[in-house]
Amino acid sequence: MVKAAVLYEQKNSLIIEDLDLDDPKAGEVLVKVGAAGICRSDRHYMHGDAPTALPIVLGHEGAGTVEAVGPGVTSVRPGQQVILSFVSSCGRCKSCITGNSQLCDAHAAAGAFMFDGTTRLHKGDTRVHHFGKTALFAEHTVVPEAAVVPIESNIGMDVAALIGCCVPTGVGAVTASANVQPGSTVAVIGCGGVGLNVVMGAALVNASKIIAVDISEAQLEFALKFGATHTVNASDKDPVAQVRELTDGKGADYTFEVFGSADTTKAAYDMAGKKGVVTIVGIAPVGAEAGINAVDMVRNEKTMRGTYYGSTHASVDMPKLVDMYLAGKLNLDDLVVRHYSLDQINEAYGDMDKGEIGRGVIMYG
Ligand code: APR
Ligand code: ZN
Repeated sequence: MVKAAVLYEQKNSLIIEDLDLDDPKAGEVLVKVGAAGICRSDRHYMHGDAPTALPIVLGHEGAGTVEAVGPGVTSVRPGQQVILSFVSSCGRCKSCITGNSQLCDAHAAAGAFMFDGTTRLHKGDTRVHHFGKTALFAEHTVVPEAAVVPIESNIGMDVAALIGCCVPTGVGAVTASANVQPGSTVAVIGCGGVGLNVVMGAALVNASKIIAVDISEAQLEFALKFGATHTVNASDKDPVAQVRELTDGKGADYTFEVFGSADTTKAAYDMAGKKGVVTIVGIAPVGAEAGINAVDMVRNEKTMRGTYYGSTHASVDMPKLVDMYLAGKLNLDDLVVRHYSLDQINEAYGDMDKGEIGRGVIMYG
């Protein structure tokens, strides 16, 4: 039995209860979860912004310790610290082979099931789905071998958890997707857990101006700690006009949407200047459409692109991000602001809705 937070119905709270967890099958790993981050991607499913299989255990940003391995597992052994990847890349599909393992076709096709089409989680006869094949809002989880990335240095479980989602998503958006050039100007719309990592990524590659845009003054204040050079409060005045003003009327060289809505997507497009690169990181509700000025796209040669998981490759990039943290290049200690127990998970998501600064993390005993 494992204690877990279960979503039975969208637009309802998570229910904390005991579930049955099967042993790992061939190619699977049993992980004792150490920490799981409170990320907005789970919140989208709770809010009903996108359909999902139910019931489901959410939680896709986390780290833990390998407790047991199923037959045939060779890359990890019991006792090892691992970061979880919410994409279990098969290594064989077209996406994986063409260098886009974050978009693995086999992973997407299997959805919230394990690769054999079944679940390891059950409540009596009812199967319970595994969000991202990670299901980290549970004390233990069984995941495909491809979901675990072993790390060599022992780091805090809370920091390791963030390297499972918001760090690669945010830093990768800057380095692997947009390829921000030194000296350029950057605007980041939405400075929560993921957006702050975009800010840190932009600082890391020596952007000149890094303009943090948010509707919360507290978030903006906080963003200054991570490398933002200017702040724009989008609830006071038109953020597009403010960003243009801060960039001598030109618009930013690189803009990032890191909230997830049609309006902020359009704003990210509009505040980009000539040759501007617009990168969409946030996940808007299903069906959202953002109108863009088609003529302006041509006349100003703008580029607009989405990025998933920061276009990073978990097994290669997560160990690098651990090393960058250890080298003092990523201020992840200050990013973790609140710790919660699993019993407090609904309160933790309430705090995210209230716009509390930084990242909240569930810590397991
Ligand atoms: N303009 C600017 N900022 C906004 C706006 C707006 N209209 N509305 C909300 N925000 C800010 C919030 O105040 C908050 O600081 O966006 C930030 C979102 O941060 P979090 O709630 O911490 O969300 P996060 O986990 O960072 O995820 C952001 O990235 O990976 C995706 O699914 C994820 O869509 C989500 C996005
Ligand atoms: Zn996430």
